[in-house]
Amino acid sequence: MTQFSIVVPALNEAGNIDLLLTRLSALNFAPYSFEVIFVDDGSTDGAPDKVRAWRNQSNVHLIERRDKPDLTAATLAGIAAAKSDVIVVMDADLSHPPEQLPAIVTPVLNGNYDVVIGSRYVAGGSTENWPLYRQLLSRAGSWIARPLCDVNDATSGFFAFRRELAACISNHARGYKILLELLMANQGKLRVTEVPICFRDRAQGASKLSLSHQQAYIQRLITLAGGTATLNTAGRFAAVGLFGALIDAVVFQWMISRDAGLALAHFISFFVAAVTNYTFNSKWSFREHHAGYLKWHQFGRFLTVGALALLLRGGVLALLVYVWHIPPLLAIFPAIVATAAVNYLGSAFYVFPSEKDL
Ligand code: GDD
Repeated sequence: MTQFSIVVPALNEAGNIDLLLTRLSALNFAPYSFEVIFVDDGSTDGAPDKVRAWRNQSNVHLIERRDKPDLTAATLAGIAAAKSDVIVVMDADLSHPPEQLPAIVTPVLNGNYDVVIGSRYVAGGSTENWPLYRQLLSRAGSWIARPLCDVNDATSGFFAFRRELAACISNHARGYKILLELLMANQGKLRVTEVPICFRDRAQGASKLSLSHQQAYIQRLITLAGGTATLNTAGRFAAVGLFGALIDAVVFQWMISRDAGLALAHFISFFVAAVTNYTFNSKWSFREHHAGYLKWHQFGRFLTVGALALLLRGGVLALLVYVWHIPPLLAIFPAIVATAAVNYLGSAFYVFPSEKDL
């Protein structure tokens, strides 16, 4: 009987497959036995043939997906096909040393942990031969995920877990964040540990990580944090803000023309604009993520964020003008940007957080 399954997503990894399987075969796992499942996504470099050549002599399997290539979807396909209840996920490019596999899988096999992460960012862990920009991206990616899932290396692609835990991962999950999805889908129910690994950048082939994968990762973190910040909501929020400013100016002019005092005109025009902005933001700007009902307590939050943004604007202006001696006509621009950012983020995370299924 197979005690654990190693799932290896692979895309154009012909130059790495023989060496990976040679090193995996050299490991002494007795009394445990394992299978290796490669999940290929339409490689054009002959990688599937390399895997097929191993199928007769060892417990190696190949899944060839025909869907759009995707790391998470490929990994989930491998997990679904696995014969055992303990899964290890690792890259095909040898950046995850096979020799460190026993330290990762054994604590799950013996039932001490539900998830074991091969971590670059705990004592003893390291990265080698990685360009500085990749090190910084990887560190930043792990650091921003930390408040959500409380591990040091949430973007690691080398980890072991009990297979049943993958059932909670959405079939729509995509990209380079399967470990994060696994941890978040089972939050509060897991015994997780990280063991140090030495990640060594590939010697053959090229990384498939793209800018869109990185954007998708950040977007997913925002959603998992309950926020509704997206390019779409930001664009609509900006349009509503401009419309609100127009309403503010029109009402103010109208009241002044009717001989209302300055204070009253200022107060009423501000209030009308605030109600307009709140209504449009609730019903339109954040509509995909938010139920869209108008609520008094939410309007209160909207005003609170607006007041904080106004205070910040005053603070930034004072700093730039009085401390750094920047002319007020220039200083107003960074002050406006800071106010808009606080207003938007306050709305996306505090006033209109996600009310729909994550
Ligand atoms: N089937 C399939 N489909 N495999 C893929 C796809 C895909 O669309 N995209 C990438 N892979 C495979 C690669 O062939 C490789 O085996 C593994 O996934 C990692 O992809 P890379 O593109 O080489 O990742 P990296 O070297 O930049 O590494 C970073 O991301 C990895 C994702 O797991 C690092 O942070 C790694 O630690 C992390 O494992």
